[in-house]
Amino acid sequence: MTKKTNEYIVLLCSVLFSLGLASNVFAVDVNKVVAVCANCHGIGGASTDQTVPIIGGYSVEFLSNNMKAYKNKERVCPDTVYRSGNLKGNTTSMCLVLDNVNYEDIPKVAEYFSQQKFVRSKQIFDPELAKKGKDLHDDLCESCHTASGTVAGDDAGMTGGQWMFYLREAFDEFLADMRPIPKKMKDRFKILSKDDINALINYYGSIQ
Ligand code: HEC
Ligand code: HEC
Repeated sequence: MTKKTNEYIVLLCSVLFSLGLASNVFAVDVNKVVAVCANCHGIGGASTDQTVPIIGGYSVEFLSNNMKAYKNKERVCPDTVYRSGNLKGNTTSMCLVLDNVNYEDIPKVAEYFSQQKFVRSKQIFDPELAKKGKDLHDDLCESCHTASGTVAGDDAGMTGGQWMFYLREAFDEFLADMRPIPKKMKDRFKILSKDDINALINYYGSIQ
């Protein structure tokens, strides 16, 4: 081997070595990221706070899409505060939270939450309204939100057992075009009255 080839090999090795080091240094610690999420969404995404959605047990597809929607500012992200942890009381938003998560790490974080259990919320609902809501759901929503909105694989979020307070916010955001909405769902939403929406929310709250 010539001296030049030797130098080349040494250079190549050092480049490969530093690339290896760099990827180790920057490899995301998913546990650290999800610990931030847990300050609001609870352990494993099983939120016990009615103003924060339960995300444990949602599908990878739904979680990735919505995280990207926040990161790209396609989904509105109202100000919110850390519920616990050392930043407790500090204001942030889902968009700001996602500023600190790289695109390539989004699927890993989504994967983590998808493997957790969706723990349905225990909440007070109006049984009469829930009955009316069930009929509306069966007619207009069940085709995409199957088994009363409890199947993660629908990639449509889990409406059955989700916090009613949060669902109200979701309806408001969809109706005001502040959040991407599937075209067919939008068509269904157009024919809903305020009372219908209230009935649907009570129905989803009754799934416990
Ligand atoms: C400071 C509190 C807070 C933190 C930290 C936080 N979230 Fe959220 N998250 C919320 C609130 C409140 C909402 C609902 C309102 C909204 O859209 O901003 C939400 C909404 C979401 C949604 C949409 C759920 C749905 O049903 O559509 C996803 C997905 C989500 N968060 C994932 C995460 C992930 C992943 C992390 C950690 C990287 C995280 N959040 C950190 C408060 C928080
Ligand atoms: C054509 C299929 C389709 C129909 C019909 C449909 N949806 Fe959806 N829905 C979706 C999809 C897909 C999403 C996920 C959108 C996203 O990624 O943010 C969704 C999301 C939602 C969410 C937000 C869930 C969350 O966790 O943030 C609510 C609430 C909802 N739908 C309610 C309804 C109701 C009520 C009806 C009936 C009036 C209905 N949908 C009909 C496909 C549908």
